[in-house]
Amino acid sequence: MATNVPRIKLGSQGLEVSAQGLGCMGMSCFYGPPKPDEDMINLIHHAIHSGVTLLDTSDMYGPHTNEILLGKALKGGVREKVQLATKFAYSFGEGGIDIRGDPEYVRAACEASLKRLEVDCIDLYYQHRVDTRVPIEITMGELKKLVEEGKIKYIGLSEASAATIRRAHAVHPITAVQIEWSLWARDVEEEIIPTCRELGIGIVAYSPLGRGFLSSGAKLVENFSEGDIRKMLPRFGGENAEHNATLYERINKLAEQKGCTPSQLALAWLHHQGNDVVPIPGTTRIENFNQNIGALSVKLTADDVSELECIASAVKGDRYPPGMNTWKESDTPPVSAWNAGA
Ligand code: ATR
Repeated sequence: MATNVPRIKLGSQGLEVSAQGLGCMGMSCFYGPPKPDEDMINLIHHAIHSGVTLLDTSDMYGPHTNEILLGKALKGGVREKVQLATKFAYSFGEGGIDIRGDPEYVRAACEASLKRLEVDCIDLYYQHRVDTRVPIEITMGELKKLVEEGKIKYIGLSEASAATIRRAHAVHPITAVQIEWSLWARDVEEEIIPTCRELGIGIVAYSPLGRGFLSSGAKLVENFSEGDIRKMLPRFGGENAEHNATLYERINKLAEQKGCTPSQLALAWLHHQGNDVVPIPGTTRIENFNQNIGALSVKLTADDVSELECIASAVKGDRYPPGMNTWKESDTPPVSAWNAGA
């Protein structure tokens, strides 16, 4: 199949990826029951064949089952065709879930991901959430060793503040920051995006479709299945959801006028932010995947952009409930504090 998906450089260390990636989380967890392996492997192969080669997972999706799924999908010479990104930090122990960035944990998590993925090397290894007890320099020190040993190629951070990104980057170059960025999640534009640009760090936009709300509005909320975590998110509940559904309807109308879909408008808005931005829409359906790569050929005028931004700025409700370890709570102690405790 001929591919129309452009390639772009992510960060300044040589990583080249497709301009749109594939978020794999929903295949295994959080958005309803896990989907059949065979269908998901077909979808992953279809994506690669179409030119989408940046695959995004994490050890906490499942936990672990999403990495195992990717491991199966990458067999038979497929691994060489992709840029494989995974993440560590969520530790599932007897005492519940913990976020860890201490060197011993970083190394053990990496080794375990390599085994589950059945690969020798991870292309892009992110800290999924920052461990606020461990100076970021200490976490980075171990990641740097993993690069030197050839276990990972590039380092990323997810949901990190501008200050944390800066400190981490001083230890070893950060290739990509993954952050929620979309029409209805724009607070990152104030400090995080400019910091990434100043430092030459690529930006990977997660939940670019507002976890599906910007694709389907009220219909999405009405059809949540048992165990869908979106039910816990402020934007998807009660009056907020009702209000936000009216914004979706307006975006949908604009999409109709432009002859595209609301998902394509939401993704095109991100593609128009610059060639250092890679949205990674999550999907479990080939037809939705095909629609999403179609966003790469949607052209937005300055008027389209300002209308979309004006509509979406009226969003109601936070993106997460409190205590979810977002970039706002991601500053870490100085190294001296760690050394004093050692
Ligand atoms: P996340 O990064 O958290 O996966 P997202 O990419 O913003 O979030 O949105 C993912 C959601 O959008 C999923 O519920 C996905 O549903 P399917 O698995 O059924 O596709 C939905 N989604 C993705 N692309 C879509 C499209 N083109 N039309 C409708 N829904 C879509």
